[in-house]
Amino acid sequence: MSWIREGELNLLERFSANVLKAGPMPKHVAFIMDGNRRFARKKNMECLKGHMQGFNKLAETLRWCKHLNIREVTVYAFSIENFKRTKEEVDGLMELARQKFVKLLEERENLKKHGVCIRVLGDLNMLPLDLQQLIAKSVLTTKSHNQCFLNVCFSYTSRYEITNAVREMAWGVEEGLLKASDVSESLLNECLYSNNSPNPDLLIRTSGEVRLSDFLLWQSSHSCIVFQSVLWPEYSFWNLCEAILRYQLNYKSIQKARDLHREQQTLMQLESDCACVADLLQNHGNGKPVDAQRRQEALQHYISCREERIQDFLQALKHKRDSYFSDLWREDA
Ligand code: FPP
Ligand code: MG
Repeated sequence: MSWIREGELNLLERFSANVLKAGPMPKHVAFIMDGNRRFARKKNMECLKGHMQGFNKLAETLRWCKHLNIREVTVYAFSIENFKRTKEEVDGLMELARQKFVKLLEERENLKKHGVCIRVLGDLNMLPLDLQQLIAKSVLTTKSHNQCFLNVCFSYTSRYEITNAVREMAWGVEEGLLKASDVSESLLNECLYSNNSPNPDLLIRTSGEVRLSDFLLWQSSHSCIVFQSVLWPEYSFWNLCEAILRYQLNYKSIQKARDLHREQQTLMQLESDCACVADLLQNHGNGKPVDAQRRQEALQHYISCREERIQDFLQALKHKRDSYFSDLWREDA
């Protein structure tokens, strides 16, 4: 089964999609694809067959998303917690991932034609080396595509991602690239694995479980979260429409909360910059009073230096991450 499913929507689906598209549509949808094993049990199949059906459902869901103009999708494919499952299941999931990334590389021309960029978010070091290499190849091969984006969270948990982002900032301070006072919510955001994506507008969990299981905790604070009782391999176009409808019903309050948060963040950054400048003037001004104009000039200067510092740090971080992927590819060649 391939990653890209061709095919149009049927007449009724097309009609419903057009009705939904008359309202505000989510641009980025995230899925916790839960219920594969319960589905397998229900159908008297081996557990791994449930995961295979789960992958097929992912491909089908991506096709629906494309028709609904949803250009970005993020999925929870393998949590760090999942390493605690039986060896047989973990090995089976690794093998399934191997097969799918091999398939992805075989389909590279089709992915190029559709402009699909695949990103893998998580700590790849925890995976078998050959799988790391396949993932690195897949990510680098589709890196420049920009029509739609699929983020596969693999060997991922949100707490691990946030801890890693904090470590990256600590590294930046240690290397002298950042000042401790540069650490902020927006900088942490840039250090997450998800730094290339906007936050999800809609987060869907299937199977009836009503928790986030350490998935996109940081990114989903202003997302519409929809829990649906259907098992993932049985997910339908109509389930997706229902979730989008719930997003549309909550759209106004979500936007309001997002705008408020953005304003608060800008204000907090300004307060932090002002405090840093006040300290500097205090320490270097020999206690002399400073007039408003000099204070304003010092603030502008401080802000532009901080922004430059942060850009240089993010560039260094990007270089570190890009090298990790290209080294993996080179080792494999
Ligand atoms: C959760 O259902 C599902 C998973 C842990 C694995 C999901 C993986 C896929 C759908 C395949 C994706 C593969 C790639 C390469 C993208 P569960 O196992 O927790 O089922 P349960 O809740 O019924 O026990
Ligand atoms: Mg589960």
